[in-house]
Amino acid sequence: MTRTVYVKGQYLPENEGKISIFDRGFLFADGVYEVTAVVGGHFVDYDLHQERLERSLRELSMGWPCSKDDLKTMHLELVKRNNLAEGWVYMQITRGAADRDFKFPKDAKPSLVAFTQAKELVDNPDAVKGVSVITVPDIRWARRDIKTVMLLAPVLGKQAAAEKGAFEAWMVEDGKVTEGTSSNAYIVKNGKVITRELSNAILAGCTRRALFRLMAENGIELEERAFTPEEALQADEAFLTSASNFVMPIVEIDGKRIGGGQPGPVARQLRALFLEEARKQ
Ligand code: PDD
Repeated sequence: MTRTVYVKGQYLPENEGKISIFDRGFLFADGVYEVTAVVGGHFVDYDLHQERLERSLRELSMGWPCSKDDLKTMHLELVKRNNLAEGWVYMQITRGAADRDFKFPKDAKPSLVAFTQAKELVDNPDAVKGVSVITVPDIRWARRDIKTVMLLAPVLGKQAAAEKGAFEAWMVEDGKVTEGTSSNAYIVKNGKVITRELSNAILAGCTRRALFRLMAENGIELEERAFTPEEALQADEAFLTSASNFVMPIVEIDGKRIGGGQPGPVARQLRALFLEEARKQ
């Protein structure tokens, strides 16, 4: 089925959506993005993603391509036109098209493009078995709190994982896990969930934020601190979170089984709580 995509104000068949070779997203990765999940035709944590988008744009002194209301209308319209029941909307804003010059262009208008991707998020078979991760050095820049389209390090990390038959790569800096290439990283020890505190070193995940609230409501203990890959191997459980995977149990790190090679009870409970919440939205 040909999707309908959104390109700078127009809804078009996907093979007709075109962007300038001078677009700064293409030339400099001078752009930001969001991936917002859809379950039962409804967005999951839409407002959290919009809040982070606003921050990303502000941090890069980048303008809005349209009003927030128009952006929401566009999201809803894409879901409707593509009959999307489950999956996500990917949207990207760049600083626009201008002759190649590093400094900000004076007259360029931000470009907005977006498309849908269908995926089984709720009944995802990976979540039943659990997934494996490898560790790789974190070679990214120092502002990982901004959700930019500059994703070469994650591309290389994910490729290294795929070549080892793993689902994700956990990136390590100064001996500690920062996060996954496109997800936040967690371990569980004695019933307590441990994940790195927010800073410029990681992206503030919307799934992470929503999950923290569910954990507090359900009396699940949380500790925000960095952990080492060695500590992860000694943990009872591990899992990752993202808009594209929700809560995904991890059963193997660098080829070594953790938690007996089965998704752990805390990860399973958190996934169930998250899904329940997602279905309500
Ligand atoms: N990635 N950390 C990184 C580096 C990410 O790229 C992502 C999301 C997350 C999790 O954030 P959230 O819970 O808001 O999705 C953490 C998206 C899904 C992607 O690039 O496809």
